[in-house]
Amino acid sequence: MIDKNEIMKIANDYDKDNVKIGALASHSALDVADGAIEEGFKTVLYCQKGRERTYANYFRAKRVAGKVVRGFVDECHVYGKFSEMVAPGEQDKMVRDNVIFVPNRSFTSYIPLKVVEDEFRVPMFGSRNMLRMEERSEQQSYYWLLEKGGLPFPEKIDDPEDIDELVVVKLHHAQKKLERGFFTASSYQEYKEKSDQLVQQGVITRDDLAGARIERYIIGPVFNFDFFYSPLEEEYEKVELLGVDWRFETSLDGHVRLPADQQMKLNEKQFLPEYTVCGHNSATVRESLLESVFSMAEKFVKVSERHYDPGIIGPFCLQTCIDKDLNYYIYDVAPRVGGGTNVHMAVGHPYGNSLYRANVSTGRRVAMEIRRGLEEDRLSEILT
Ligand SMILES: Nc1ncnc2c1ncn2[C@@H]1O[C@H](COP(=O)(O)OP(=O)(O)O)[C@@H](O)[C@H]1O
Ligand SMILES: [Mg+2]
Repeated sequence: MIDKNEIMKIANDYDKDNVKIGALASHSALDVADGAIEEGFKTVLYCQKGRERTYANYFRAKRVAGKVVRGFVDECHVYGKFSEMVAPGEQDKMVRDNVIFVPNRSFTSYIPLKVVEDEFRVPMFGSRNMLRMEERSEQQSYYWLLEKGGLPFPEKIDDPEDIDELVVVKLHHAQKKLERGFFTASSYQEYKEKSDQLVQQGVITRDDLAGARIERYIIGPVFNFDFFYSPLEEEYEKVELLGVDWRFETSLDGHVRLPADQQMKLNEKQFLPEYTVCGHNSATVRESLLESVFSMAEKFVKVSERHYDPGIIGPFCLQTCIDKDLNYYIYDVAPRVGGGTNVHMAVGHPYGNSLYRANVSTGRRVAMEIRRGLEEDRLSEILT
C-alpha cells in the first residue's frame, strides 16, 4: 500500500485554488463530475476510446467567464485502454493538474488492484486500502468484515448438497468479462441441473462453480443504501444517509414482466435469466426501518476503523434485501461511490436534499467534503 505520507507530500504541493476532481469515465463518473462542478471544481475524466463520447461530447462543459452554463466535463483524456491512464507519465500529468481522484468500481475493475494500492500515486478521496475487500474471492472480503462487525448477511451454504431452500449461486460470467453468471436453486437437484445447463451454454465454468459463493436467497425487495461518512464533521453526526437505489437487471427484469404461462414456455435458450445491471431507480424506506439503517452504517464504520485503518472515508454503499419479517441482510458492500448514484445526480435525493437543504447527490457530497478539507486545511483526513 502506498504510504499515506507519500500521498500527503504530493497533495501538500497542490495548488489549492486549482484542484480538479478526476475519475475514470464510467460507473458513477457523471454523478461525481456533476457534483464537482456544483461545488466549483474543474473536472477531468479518463476515458477509453470507443466509449468517450458521453463524457467528451454530450456532457462536455461550456464555461462563460469561468462559470459553467452547460454540461459538466471540463476535460477528457482518451486512452486506447483504460489501463493506460495509470502509466507513470499519465500519473505525473494528474499530479501536475492537482487532481484529487475519486475511485469507482470501474477503476478497480479495469486497473489491477495491486497497481491501485501500490503504484497509483495520485491523491485519492476515500479509503484506498478498503477497495480490495469487495472482491468476493478475497480471504478478507466484505463478508469477513460484516461478520466481524456483527452485521447481518445471508447465510453461506458450504456444500451444494445442503441446499434446502432458495439460494443464489454467485460466480462470474464466463464470456462477459465483469458480468455475473449468477443463478438460483432451491435444491441440490436443481443446482445440478441448472449448473450443468449453464456450463453447457458457456455461461459459467466448472472451475468458477467450484469456487462460487452459495448463500440464502432473501426473498424481498432490494435497497442499496448510499451513505457518506464524514471524518471532518465534528458538531453533527458523521454518518449520513444520502440516498437509496435499486437496480434494473437484464434479463431478470424482463422475465418477471412476462405472464407466468409465458415464462413457463420459454425454451432452454431463454429459460434462465441473467443478472446484468443496466439501470437504476430510486427508493425510500418506511420510517420505522430507518433506525436499523443508521445502526448498520454505524457498525460498518466502526468495524472498518478497527480493521482498515483509518476506516471508511466518504461514500459507501450497503446493498440489502429486506425479508418478510423486516430483517435486513447485506449481500454486497461498496467501500466507495455506489453503482446506482446517478439516479440522484443533480436532482439529489429525498434524504440527501433534506439533510442539506439543497440538491445533494453522492457526487456533490464528495465535492463538498473535498471543498471543506481544502478550506480547513484537513485534506490529510480524507485522502489516501
Ligand atoms: N442473498 C441474496 N438474496 C437475494 N438477492 C440477492 C442476494 N445476493 C444478491 N442478490 C441479487 O443479485 C444482485 C447482484 O448481487 P451482488 O452481490 O450485488 O453482485 P455484484 O457483486 O455483482 O454487484 C443484487 O442486485 C440482488 O438483486
Ligand atoms: Mg452489487
